[in-house]
Amino acid sequence: MKPSIVLYKSIPPDLHARLEQHFTVHAFDELNPENPALKQALQQAEGIIGSGGKIDNAFLQQAPKLRAASTIAVGYDNFDVEALNARRIALMHTPTVLTETVADTLMGLMLASARRMIEVAERVKAGEWQESIGPEWYGVDVHHKTIGILGMGRIGMALAQRAHFGFGMPVLYNARRVHQEAEQRFSARRCDLDTLLAESDFVCIVLPLTDETFHIIGREQLAKMKKSGILINAGRGPVVDEAALIEALQNGTIHAAGLDVFEQEPLAVNSPLLKLPNVVALPHIGSATHETRYGMAACAVDNLIAVLTGTVKENCVNPQVLKTA
Ligand code: GLV
Ligand code: GLV
Repeated sequence: MKPSIVLYKSIPPDLHARLEQHFTVHAFDELNPENPALKQALQQAEGIIGSGGKIDNAFLQQAPKLRAASTIAVGYDNFDVEALNARRIALMHTPTVLTETVADTLMGLMLASARRMIEVAERVKAGEWQESIGPEWYGVDVHHKTIGILGMGRIGMALAQRAHFGFGMPVLYNARRVHQEAEQRFSARRCDLDTLLAESDFVCIVLPLTDETFHIIGREQLAKMKKSGILINAGRGPVVDEAALIEALQNGTIHAAGLDVFEQEPLAVNSPLLKLPNVVALPHIGSATHETRYGMAACAVDNLIAVLTGTVKENCVNPQVLKTA
């Protein structure tokens, strides 16, 4: 008999079919723990695959046979990894396929924020472009400004590559250890957080959400940025203290922000962020291209097949649970 799995996101038909070759698939559009059909399917499920949701101890108690979880994402802060480890459930993710696309999004946020592209495009649509434009339409330059990267992982590296080679930007980064490749290829300079904040024109956050990164950027850190500084976040919302950020943007402590992630998603329609002209807010589209979302779903499908057939080579967050005791 094929193992039973729960799919909790709609994926392209060919990928769905690939899952069905290996598993009995119980498909749902989302992970709604109140759904009785989902509860029933979880009782038998050896694997789950999808994105979003909160996978904690309470959830796992509903899935007594679970051996593997495959998230269609690089970030896995919605999983209680310790609870998974305790149950020896493998967690798979998609760390490589979205790197370049997210780096593109970061460049887009920098350009849109610095050059006020969204704001002025809306003014054109509103019929406000009546004569040649004056300084009230101007932005600030991106090229040759200093970029400071928080999170020199794959995405940070792809961003540094764009910034260094494409835009002639000096690259600063903050990390626990020296990143030799970044220093060699992009002349990146490692510095402490305060120095990075003080010297960067763009502070770009590509950090995952962990206990250590929660609110790593708060009021005190924002105050250390240049008044002309622009904060870019495409990591996870709670890495930044959003209330402090709103205050900093309202007070002119910093110049602007380009945000793809928020403390609460979807962002509340009454968020003060949406009232600020110096904010570009995107709906968490870092990896949202047709090509990359397909690639992530395909990777997650392959990950689940690999883990449930005992052939994992990569993409496992907690490989220690795969070892036979
Ligand atoms: C997106 O935010 C992801 O973690 O893949
Ligand atoms: C983050 O930067 C990653 O590469 O996962």
